[in-house]
Amino acid sequence: MAASRVTSTIVMKLQHRLSFWWFSLLFTAAIATETPKVSPITRIAFGSCANQSAPQPIWDAINKFDPQLFIWLGDNIYGDIRKPNRVFGKERTIGPWRNSPRFVPSSEEEMKLRYARAKANPGYSRLQRKARIVGTWDDHDYGLNDAGKEFDRKVINQKLMLDFLDEPLDSPRRKQAGVYASYMFGPPNRRVKVIVLDTRYHRDPIRSDGSILGDAQWRWLEEELRGPRSEITIVGSSVQVISNLSATTGPLFYMESWGRFPKERKRFFQLIEDTKRNGVVFISGDVHFGEITRYDCAVGYPLYDVTSSGLVQSVEKVFPRPLRFIVRLLFWYTPSTMRVINENCKYRSCTYGQQNFGAISIDWNANPATIRLEVRDVNGLTALSTNVSLSELQPRGSKPLTDSTRKGKSQPYCTLEVELPGTTRYRLAVLIYFTIAVLAMALVGLIIGAVLTITACVYKCKLD
Ligand SMILES: *[C@@H]1O[C@H](CO)[C@@H](O)[C@H](O)[C@H]1NC(C)=O
Ligand SMILES: *[C@@H]1O[C@H](CO)[C@@H](O)[C@H](O)[C@H]1NC(C)=O
Ligand SMILES: *[C@@H]1O[C@H](CO)[C@@H](O)[C@H](O)[C@H]1NC(C)=O
Repeated sequence: MAASRVTSTIVMKLQHRLSFWWFSLLFTAAIATETPKVSPITRIAFGSCANQSAPQPIWDAINKFDPQLFIWLGDNIYGDIRKPNRVFGKERTIGPWRNSPRFVPSSEEEMKLRYARAKANPGYSRLQRKARIVGTWDDHDYGLNDAGKEFDRKVINQKLMLDFLDEPLDSPRRKQAGVYASYMFGPPNRRVKVIVLDTRYHRDPIRSDGSILGDAQWRWLEEELRGPRSEITIVGSSVQVISNLSATTGPLFYMESWGRFPKERKRFFQLIEDTKRNGVVFISGDVHFGEITRYDCAVGYPLYDVTSSGLVQSVEKVFPRPLRFIVRLLFWYTPSTMRVINENCKYRSCTYGQQNFGAISIDWNANPATIRLEVRDVNGLTALSTNVSLSELQPRGSKPLTDSTRKGKSQPYCTLEVELPGTTRYRLAVLIYFTIAVLAMALVGLIIGAVLTITACVYKCKLD
């Protein structure tokens, strides 16, 4: 505003002195500087699960990728306090006899300290100077592991989270219940819309099959999807939208995901279909490994979900180095119907269990424009990737669903995990239980052997 006023004053002063063509030349130049051309966005990075107390070398790789936009997908800090596993003692945290919670929320002061520490990380500071940063939260920065709408510190923690993201003080986002938001980037015909969802503030209990978003956020989301057109619409969700790993890791363990809320997930896909929104791509975090999945039978075009987790916390880090191959083996062994398996994966499993970030590169000049979805490692190298042409992400015309498009069970990326035959679906559980049984039997055998040897010895020793 100020700049344009100055320019026009100068223009007026010069008007009298210069010949007309000189003036018009200046005027054109002034217009050009007053309305800078919005350049299209071509590089977007995202990530989740950043432990503020640990080293964060991943920022170097992200800075090298040089994104124009970075999207936080939650667990941006670990705000809650995790107590050690205790089977015995006064504060027992695991087993059916546990008497105290494993996770407890931190005080407001402690949350502030943790955010301050995250924000001051030198690598992240460099990114803050160069890129636009937006995002949402997940459970640990919301304030408590696996928490939902019942969590009583959500109002104050929303303020702290928005402070961390430098949300302007007069932003409507500070007045609403939840941190969901949307952004539009780029010039006409090369527009990227970014929607970040809040999957915590209004979420019903995990086994309820209730709501994730809550009524107000659903109404908002519908308006966003019906709103002005964009070539690409990136929807950020803290938890995975497409993969339903719980279906193949249960009853051993379960994770949070949209899959655990089947009715809500169906509603989401139905909304995308009804609004005929094109170019929707999901990004997600939470699970401590990277994965690219796609679901071809939800709406009229493939829905991709690029999961990057974590920037710091990763499944393989939990295991000593020589045992890490077991994690990869188990990933490879666990069936998955939606995972994109191609030759661009660093490991056979096409999952990536070390520190990583998500990278989206858009080639607007290709015809048709293409979008490259990647999970990159701590050195910035590709760990998983797939190229998608924007022309593939177009809703089918107004023609109704035919049986062949709706059914499509023989089509890859169409079968739900829960539809797998039991022998396939539960093969991880079978393997683990079988291994435990064999080990237990071996232990019993060993004990019997030892007892027999000792009794034999005692008898023999007595004789001697
Ligand atoms: C974060 O990192 C610190 C330092 O390495 C570690 O002590 C802590 O347990 C980590 N937090 C989580 C939630 O893993
Ligand atoms: C995901 O898996 C869980 C656990 O098996 C199951 O209850 C749920 O219905 C599945 N969701 C979908 C969408 O298949
Ligand atoms: C994907 O696109 C990138 C450029 O954006 C290209 O370098 C790469 O070879 C492509 N990969 C495949 C498998 O097509």
